[in-house]
Amino acid sequence: MGENTANLTNLAIFVSGRGSNLRSIIDSCDHGILRSLARVALVVASKANIHALQIAESAGIDRYVYSRDIPVTTLLAVLEEHEVGFIALAGYLRRIAPEIVRKFERRIVNIHPALLPKFGGKGMYGMRVHQAVIESGETISGVTVHYVSEEYDAGQILAQETVAVEENDTAETLADRILQIEHKVYPVAIADALRNLKR
Ligand code: GRF
Repeated sequence: MGENTANLTNLAIFVSGRGSNLRSIIDSCDHGILRSLARVALVVASKANIHALQIAESAGIDRYVYSRDIPVTTLLAVLEEHEVGFIALAGYLRRIAPEIVRKFERRIVNIHPALLPKFGGKGMYGMRVHQAVIESGETISGVTVHYVSEEYDAGQILAQETVAVEENDTAETLADRILQIEHKVYPVAIADALRNLKR
């Protein structure tokens, strides 16, 4: 019997690199908590030739490379064409245009590999976040999922989970441990955000 996809929200996942969070969201739509709620309808990449696009391709998901010279109105049209109802940023490194933020109010989230509001803001991405945590001497870091607003990393927090910083951690070892938690937390937070919309 075919699956009933009529009630599923179409997700667009925005990526810029590796795509491991994209992978965990696809898996969750296939057989996890997102299964009864959503499907990945589109992957938007800030550049071509990134691993995340290969993941999307092998999962048979439509892909759109949104390079700098493309106007935001074109991106909005592509999102509309795919009937996108919710956006999840997953390692996306470009600023989101205010037009998108406004159109997708409460329908756009991001994941950040630290406990916001600390260690966030412009320029705080990738290993820089973990390096800053270690240099600060913090003993706890973690994961934050937040709604996206017009300011970097400043929207309302939807979910957080802590991860202990070990004495001998490097930025890399801490990043690896946090990433494992990201893969669990993000699909659950997206599910919560989708349920919040139905309330
Ligand atoms: C993750 O650490 C995420 O928190 C941050 O960028 C990284 C993306 O990793 N925003 P991946 O591309 O999902 O593997």
